[in-house]
Amino acid sequence: MEKVAVVTGSSSGIGFETSLALAREGFFTYATMRNVKKADAIQKIANEESLSLKVLDLDVDNEESAEKAVKTIIQEKGRIDVLINNAGWGLWGTAEDVSLDEFREQFETNFFSVVRMIQKVAPTMRKQGFGDIVNISSVAGRIGFPVSTAYISSKFAVEGLSESLRFELGEFGVNVIIIEPGVIKTKFFDSMKTAKKADEGETYRDITQKVITGVKMMAEMGTPPKEVAQVIISAIKEEKPLPRYVVGNDAAMFLEAKKMKTDIEFENYLKKELYGE
Ligand SMILES: NC(=O)c1ccc[n+]([C@@H]2O[C@H](COP(=O)([O-])OP(=O)(O)OC[C@H]3O[C@@H](n4cnc5c(N)ncnc54)[C@H](OP(=O)(O)O)[C@@H]3O)[C@@H](O)[C@H]2O)c1
Repeated sequence: MEKVAVVTGSSSGIGFETSLALAREGFFTYATMRNVKKADAIQKIANEESLSLKVLDLDVDNEESAEKAVKTIIQEKGRIDVLINNAGWGLWGTAEDVSLDEFREQFETNFFSVVRMIQKVAPTMRKQGFGDIVNISSVAGRIGFPVSTAYISSKFAVEGLSESLRFELGEFGVNVIIIEPGVIKTKFFDSMKTAKKADEGETYRDITQKVITGVKMMAEMGTPPKEVAQVIISAIKEEKPLPRYVVGNDAAMFLEAKKMKTDIEFENYLKKELYGE
């Protein structure tokens, strides 16, 4: 029987490339997106390559939309082999500058929607006795740094969720895999929002400007999203995938430094790398 994959946030970047890579690997792939008007590019490639790829409407923040999408998939295919929790976005701002509502909005997509999708898909995977849940975290899910504090917190939450889930779902033959990309060349940085107070306030203006400039410079040399897609494909091909896969030399370098240095040494190293202090 044809294997079935579901990817959230497939309109661009990592989700776009991962949907295509899964379809090329022979999965019937539901490339879901919250705005299906953005489907033309992926649909065109799928048609040209005769891929089994279907675009489906799914706003991960919206309970009704998620319920409807998963129901449709189960009705149409009766199984889900792979779920890629990819949809996400970033927010510039320090902890003081990001309002609680803005923090919640960031967590809604990056964390609670991951929980939502897992709760909807896990019963099917448990009954099947197999499945792969791939959560796109980030190197920012392992390393804290200033001015993306809500984003980083949401990705740290995804890491904790995933580590716990590995014990819970592993019992039923379901693999949970964390992907930790470094800086990836997508529209992510152009789409980042800025906390209202960060735009207006004086207190953190200096560090905010320094970090944004530093990260944007790194983004110019980012890893192509196709490489993330390839790491995901390799991971799900493993019979026993590892808990986490790092993508990009930058991510590997930062994580290695974190392992080798004391906490204080690592903070000083990060300041230097991020904004030359
Ligand atoms: N780029 C990086 O450097 C990087 C590094 C580490 C981790 N990541 C993570 O990788 C994932 C994908 O990001 P990307 O780099 O590929 O950026 P991207 O090109 O901006 O893609 C983000 C995708 O998420 C979608 N999305 C956002 N909110 C959504 C919602 N409520 N419902 C459904 N879809 C939603 C976007 O849809 P629209 O087109 O409708 O906005 C878009 O398809 C994110 O989780 C991000 O945190 C990125």
